[in-house]
This record gives sequence, C-alpha cells and structure tokens, in this order.
Amino acid sequence: VSRKKLLILAGDHVGPEIIQEAIKVLGVVAELRPDIKIDIEHGLIGGSSLDAHGVPISDQTLENAASSHAVLLGCVGGPEWEGVPGHLRPEMGVLKLRKRLDAFANIRPCRFFAPSLIDRSTLKPEIVAGVDFTVVRENCGGAYFGAKDEREDIGSDLWVYEKAEIERCARVSAALAMQLSDCGKKRVVWNADKANVLASSRIWRRITHETFSREFPELKLKDQLADSMAMLLVKSPTKFNGIIHTDNTFGDILSDISGGIIGSLGVLPSASISSVPGQGPCKGVYEAVHGSAPDISGKGIANPVGQILSLALLLKYSFGMAEEAVRLEKAVQIVLDSSDHQGLGIRTPDLGGSASTKEVGDAICAVYRAGFS
Ligand code: NAD
Ligand code: IPM
Ligand code: MN
Repeated sequence: VSRKKLLILAGDHVGPEIIQEAIKVLGVVAELRPDIKIDIEHGLIGGSSLDAHGVPISDQTLENAASSHAVLLGCVGGPEWEGVPGHLRPEMGVLKLRKRLDAFANIRPCRFFAPSLIDRSTLKPEIVAGVDFTVVRENCGGAYFGAKDEREDIGSDLWVYEKAEIERCARVSAALAMQLSDCGKKRVVWNADKANVLASSRIWRRITHETFSREFPELKLKDQLADSMAMLLVKSPTKFNGIIHTDNTFGDILSDISGGIIGSLGVLPSASISSVPGQGPCKGVYEAVHGSAPDISGKGIANPVGQILSLALLLKYSFGMAEEAVRLEKAVQIVLDSSDHQGLGIRTPDLGGSASTKEVGDAICAVYRAGFS
C-alpha cells in the first residue's frame, strides 16, 4: 500500500463549503483505490488562522505543508480583515504557502469543461467555441515577492526577476506544450509580458527565448504584450489556444479573464507545482482560481467545480493518479451537461442552475462511483 499525505486548508467564506465537497469526492476516489492510503490532515489559513493564531498561516502549518505530498487549498480573505496590516492579510497566507513549497509554476487551464457551458459565456458562441489554453503563471517571484516599502505616504513593491526563475518556469510551459502536441493541439507558447516598458519583462522575454531555442527548438514561441493580450483574449480567445507563459502579476489578471470567457470563475481550477510535470510526482498547492466569494458565502450555493477540478489536478500531478483525474474530469462534465433541474444540468446559480453546492458535489460523487464507458 502506498501512502500519501494530504494537508487540507479550507480557508475563509466559501472555502469550507467547497472543500467539503472536494473531500467527499476524494473519499469516493480513495474507496475505489484501496491500494493507496491517503492520510488527511487539516489546518488553518487566511482570516481564520489570523483570528485563531494572530498570523495568516502558522509556521507549524507551513512545515506540515512542506512534509505533505500535496496541499488542497480553499480560498481566503473577506471584508472583515480589510483593515489588518499588509503583512498579516489573509492573502499573505497563500503567498507564504506557495513560497514555502517553492511551488513556482501555477497552471491554470481555460476551456469549457462541459460542452453545454458554452451558452453561459457572454461572448458569442462562434467566438468562444473551441477555446482551450492554459496559463502558466510564474508563482514565486515578481512584484508579489520583491522587497516592499509601506509607510504612511509611500508604498512600493519591487518587481524583480532573475534568470533561474524565468528558466524553470519556461521549462514548465514547454513541458505542457509538448504534451498538447500529443493530442493534436497547437504546439504554440504565447509569452505575455510588458517588455516595451518594464526591465523585469525584458529579462523575462530574453531568458524565455534563450531557454526555448536552446532546449525546445521544436516549439513555436510568440510574444504578445500583456495589455493587448487582455483585449485579444476577449475579442478572439481561441487565438491563444496552447500555452500562455507569463509572470506572476500578468498571470493573475489574465487567468481571471478566463472566468469571463467561459462565463464563471467558479469552475476554474489551478495547480501550483514545484517541479516540471512529467519528471516524477511533484509537490503542489491545488486551489480554485476564484477568491472567497464573500457575497455568496453561507448560502450553500458556491460552485464547487473549480475546487473539485483542482483536486483532479492534484491526483494527476502529486499523487500519480492520472486515470482517476481523467475519470473525475469526465464525471464533472457529465454532471454539468446533465438535463436535471429543468434541463439546466446540475449546476449552481453562477452557471444559471438552481442546484446547491452539496447537490453538485453529491452528483459528481455518484457519477464517479458509477463509472461510464
Ligand atoms: P472572488 O473571486 O472571491 O469573487 C468574484 C465574483 O465571482 C463574486 O461575485 C463571486 O460571488 C463569484 N464567485 C467566485 N467564486 C465563486 C464560486 N465558487 N461559485 C460561484 N460564484 C463565485 O473575488 P473578490 O470578491 O474580488 O475577492 C474576495 C476575496 O477573495 C478577497 O479577499 C481576495 O483577496 C480573495 N481571493 C483569494 C483567493 C485565494 O484564496 N486563492 C483568490 C482570489 C481572491
Ligand atoms: C489568486 C489570488 C491570489 C493571487 C491572492 C489571494 C494572493 O488572487 O490565486 O489568483 O493574487 O495570487
Ligand atoms: Mn487572482
């Protein structure tokens, strides 16, 4: 029996609501694989950790994360912690966690995880049909982690990139692009930066090109300034099918545009990993792209799909359970495409449905368990 240690950090607001569904799903996945024993521990992060321990993540939780195979993370933050000093904000818990695990590549796929979701996009169907790109966001550097100066009359964040940080992120983007070609998709990597203005972007672009031409000459690498990419993602999103390779700040913004393209942030997953995929199992933090959605928390209507698809990424990248990941993604698709609930599929209100968080989670469990041919 192989043992896997999983740390679960539910976080704030809708975090615990969606994490509960992911835990249920994981229970079913584990039940069908008695040869793998998953040891689950729980910890605090974000505002709930701040309230309990005075810090957004404790050293003990960080060490616990570091000794786990993976961390399943809910989401953090909320209006009740708006006034706290910058270094204690709930969001700092997430950043410290990513940094402690050196989870330097944040993988954020954007596609219609179920074909019927295309109607939810506010963009015209002919514009969004077939959209399928993955943002690879550098996750441990840039403006997020540079030296800060925060005083009464001044605030600054140092936006700095070093060669090695760019190289390793480029290797992840390239590895994912190589996998795409296996499925007949385009082998294109789009580099998004602001090399026309920022020094940190100029080194980003230069090292990215050097790494690709030295190590991955078979891949096509194209540059797009991040601001015009934001516009083009809305105007013609399929132009970027393939991989979008970008820095921490631009990746944060561009990956929320993904939610706008497909119609809800609530379905988008993410994996923050600490090594190049395909080179053995890696440690990672798995969380939905969205935040703690304080506006809908406590109502039982948050969409658990982003969290559950993040669990699928966890199974694939950190637990070596790629088949289970595929089966789980398929189960999610079947549930979203099903015609229960007045023909709308078993969906939460953000996707136009009337199902609760729990009903969606239960349905995914049932379909996963039943299997399909
Ligand atoms: P948000 O992503 O929480 O919400 C944006 C909108 O999307 C809201 O209308 C919300 O109701 C909706 N939404 C988000 N997730 C949903 C889901 N699962 N189901 C249905 N609807 C969903 O962004 P925000 O309101 O700007 O931020 C709220 C807090 O979350 C802030 O404190 C922010 O810092 C934090 N945040 C945390 C994370 C994280 O923990 N990983 C990520 C982003 C933002
Ligand atoms: C995200 C979030 C985080 C980020 C916050 C909560 C630190 O917006 O995961 O996209 O900015 O990276
Ligand atoms: Mn974000």
